[in-house]
Amino acid sequence: MPISLRGAKVLKDLSNEELRTLHMVETLLKKGEYAPKEKVADYSGYREKDVDLYLSRLNKLKLTRRWTGQFVGYTLTLSGFDALALNKLYIDKKVYGVGRSSGVGKESDIYYAVDFEDNEVMLKINRTGRASFKKVKRKRDFLEGKFHYSMFSVAEIASKREYENLLKLQGQNLPIPVLKGFNRHMIVMNIIDGVELVKVQYPKKPIKLLEKIVEFAKTLYQKYNLVHADLTEYNILYDIRKDSITIIDFPQAVSTEHPESVNLLRRDFTHLLDFFGKKWSITTDEVETVIDYIIK
Ligand SMILES: Nc1ncnc2c1ncn2[C@@H]1O[C@H](COP(=O)(O)OP(=O)(O)O)[C@@H](O)[C@H]1O
Ligand SMILES: [Mg+2]
Repeated sequence: MPISLRGAKVLKDLSNEELRTLHMVETLLKKGEYAPKEKVADYSGYREKDVDLYLSRLNKLKLTRRWTGQFVGYTLTLSGFDALALNKLYIDKKVYGVGRSSGVGKESDIYYAVDFEDNEVMLKINRTGRASFKKVKRKRDFLEGKFHYSMFSVAEIASKREYENLLKLQGQNLPIPVLKGFNRHMIVMNIIDGVELVKVQYPKKPIKLLEKIVEFAKTLYQKYNLVHADLTEYNILYDIRKDSITIIDFPQAVSTEHPESVNLLRRDFTHLLDFFGKKWSITTDEVETVIDYIIK
């Protein structure tokens, strides 16, 4: 697990020209597998020998990776992509600095960060596609097509979905994270007090928690036309002091218009009822009764 975020650490050492060059590489990667050095110079308007310097610095800092074939080209590394997102969050005055890692989720890295008012916030970095990235990196033969950028864009798309889902739900007193910022594959939000339900041994009244989750799913469905679709004991945080829950992790939430929405809801609650039943010996209604209650 990375203790500190490389992309954040090197950011303060980059000049504006180097940052702009990095951004140029990103833009060019949308058009091809590598950003040709000449094009970086063309687009940026910098002299080629300056671009050489900027690129070799970026490469040394492992924000880009050089490729030599029919031309000399560059691609972004994960740290390079992180640096671009963090730089924007800094410019937008959303994140002042990044601290220690708080953990690794199924498809994300979570870091503590501070905002410009010195409050601690949570930085969720989407890493969808990372597993395939590593696999492919080992096997150079696979480095074809627009693979590099497509890995960044899947993370970006997932993050954007999560941001948009959460945005719809803000300011309504729902038990969800409060959004603070967003760029590329990163979401800034408040830090939720609590631990994942999977790690909780003795909540005050497990049945009450389940009721709260059902009520949340019902509100989401009825009022906001959404189904969470990954409502598991890992995505429900429990605050023992307040005896309250918060629901997190929204990239996969679907609209109630989605043809599979009810099936996804059923999958969520089949799983959750089973979890509550096994862990706290709760007998509940049949899953179909719960689903009917939520959707009707
Ligand atoms: N805002 C937050 N406050 C506190 N902990 C969080 C927050 N967001 C995420 N976490 C922690 O990080 C873990 C992974 O985050 P999550 O949003 O579920 O991403 P993933 O898609 O990787 O599962 C969560 O299970 C939770 O323990
Ligand atoms: Mg999760």
